[in-house]
Amino acid sequence: MKRLWMKLACGLMGAYLLMVPAAQGQQVPSGKSFDLIEWNGGKFIYGADYYPEAWDESQWEKDATLMQEAGFNFVRMGEFAWVKMEPQEGHYDFAWLDRALKVLNAHGIRAVLGTPTASPPAWLYAKYPDIAAMDAQGVRYRYGSRRNYCLHNPDFVAATTRIVTAMAEHFKDHPGVLGWQIDNEVGGPKCYDPASQTAFQAWCQRKYQTLEALNAAWGTVFWGHTYHAWGEIPLPWNTLYNTSNPSLALDFDRFWSDSTHAYVDVQTAILRKIAPRQAITHNEMGMYSEVDYHDLNRSLDFVAWDNYPMGHEDYSQYFRQGLAHDLMRGSKDNQNFMIMEQEGGLPGWATFGGRQAAPGLYRVWAYQSVAHGADGICYFRWRTSRYGTEQYWEGILDQDSYRNSRYFVVSQTGKELGQLTPMLEGSKVVSPVAMLVSPDSRWALQIQPGVEDFQYERQLHDYYDAFRRAGVSVDVAFPPSDLANYRLVVAPALYVTDPTLVNKLTAFVKNGGTLILTFRSGVKDEHNVVTDKTLPGPFADITGVAIHEFDPQINEEQEIVGPGESSFPARTWSDILDPSTANVLATYGKGYYSGKPAVTENHAGKGLVYYVGTESKSPFFYDRLISLAAQKSRVALNAKIPPGVEVAVRQKAGKKIIFVLNYTSTDQTVPLDQAYQNALTGKTEALEVQIPAYGVKVLTTP
Ligand code: GAL
Repeated sequence: MKRLWMKLACGLMGAYLLMVPAAQGQQVPSGKSFDLIEWNGGKFIYGADYYPEAWDESQWEKDATLMQEAGFNFVRMGEFAWVKMEPQEGHYDFAWLDRALKVLNAHGIRAVLGTPTASPPAWLYAKYPDIAAMDAQGVRYRYGSRRNYCLHNPDFVAATTRIVTAMAEHFKDHPGVLGWQIDNEVGGPKCYDPASQTAFQAWCQRKYQTLEALNAAWGTVFWGHTYHAWGEIPLPWNTLYNTSNPSLALDFDRFWSDSTHAYVDVQTAILRKIAPRQAITHNEMGMYSEVDYHDLNRSLDFVAWDNYPMGHEDYSQYFRQGLAHDLMRGSKDNQNFMIMEQEGGLPGWATFGGRQAAPGLYRVWAYQSVAHGADGICYFRWRTSRYGTEQYWEGILDQDSYRNSRYFVVSQTGKELGQLTPMLEGSKVVSPVAMLVSPDSRWALQIQPGVEDFQYERQLHDYYDAFRRAGVSVDVAFPPSDLANYRLVVAPALYVTDPTLVNKLTAFVKNGGTLILTFRSGVKDEHNVVTDKTLPGPFADITGVAIHEFDPQINEEQEIVGPGESSFPARTWSDILDPSTANVLATYGKGYYSGKPAVTENHAGKGLVYYVGTESKSPFFYDRLISLAAQKSRVALNAKIPPGVEVAVRQKAGKKIIFVLNYTSTDQTVPLDQAYQNALTGKTEALEVQIPAYGVKVLTTP
């Protein structure tokens, strides 16, 4: 059987398909450090995404001049220009890109080049129609958009290898090329074609070794889904009623992430070999869930991501971008990162995505990126396209190249960041609190949310926003990261666990840490199989509670009484807690389980564990809860930050750099713990910092 399978797989798809590593597979080790541009005595990248191929060459010199005036030292180019670089199979033309680089370099502007694989040429689809991805219903996508290739297709991988090799050979010694962005926003669409099925079966074989092990892990006894040959294993294509085995579906999500990583590694391996002096990154997507970025980033030199607040005037959106920044930072173990696409104008495709943001907001958003750890900002895009799908997605300039208000705001921001760069260099975000984000739990909860209104991201925000409202920095940790340096860890909906993770959290608590766990934790093992222990399963000991009953789908009919005197609306779910050693902090207020515990606190070893059996729509519930937990774990909160203002801190060698960001249309007063110096003016600010509408102040300890 095994021989037959190997013959089939190798014969049909070639060796590449068998290479997709299972979770703990081979990684290309991370290379050199972030080779940033020296700028004004420090290191910071500042620029825009530029598409010289779409403009007459006579425009390039004017563009470079305007960029230089705006303080740019950087552009990203080339990520959709495959057909321009390889107009016919095996015939390459990089002369136009050389000319563009020459013009830009003469103005002190260097480049990261995108490998263009997100948008393969029409001739490639015509010659190899199967390079297009297939959806779960078995329909192949057709040429005419972008990002619809199938990364398991050997012809596509071969074409990728050729173009990346040719680019690397051509630009490897170019002094104006800083490095590489692989592809563009990898991750989807998932491909369900025969090549992908074969690759998945090979991945399963690598992971489980024997079909007995796989059948036992997935519980294939259910509905008689037991497999007797690797070739029988299906893909989770029953998306209509979501009836695929959730264990298989979770492994497929892991496989897809691994496949994406393997495809990126096809490119990193070429670049590292041919162009070892140039750095490698990718433009990631913040909270996007199809790829385990923590895993992927082991192959990249530094993290870059695409930051789109989407023109929001609603100031609460700053939490959304903040968490995404922190997750991106956490995905490379808290190394600083860069923004490869920072919103530089109003987003939109067929329609504009909202109202035009006040020009000052573009500056606030750029500073927010820096405050959360960005050492580089590249705006999307230099100028709005005249052509194609993104005619309504604004760049800094519009099609007429008029120096509009966005251009002047971007220029001002560039000049200020140039001034701040020596101070910023080497500074980092240091957080007392970590939020554990588990890709496995997130995928498993997408497969089976349990209740319709369950949203993993919302649970993250319930807690994250409360800490940020109080000016507390939060790191995002991915299992099984080291948690020893944190005082407090929040691990919302830790639905899928494994012994390593449980041991890590238990040790963290026993050594004196404070842990917040929430409903639906400890429900599943690593194979997405429900535990046969009383919930919260592996956390029963440290939480000091048992859950014998729960009430899903409660929406807002339930009430949380406490902590303290207040009561709050509950939603989504009620775990009815049965404490063994835990103290009760809040109870339910309504219905047949009125008076039963909803929130508990338990001493375990030298530490403390909070268990929150429900969710609330009220931010005050979370403010209350985290203030209890913060007090017990010696995390200082600032309760006086006005709504719509963010206070974020970077630190180096005992020096604090404090960013006060006003997302609102009104002037604000922000009381701080001491008087700080304004890093741009050198003047000492009042203890109560005055900050204008859409204003930014960067303060520092003298
Ligand atoms: C990003 C993408 C860019 C551009 C932008 C605006 O996600 O990387 O190429 O499409 O969105 O739509």
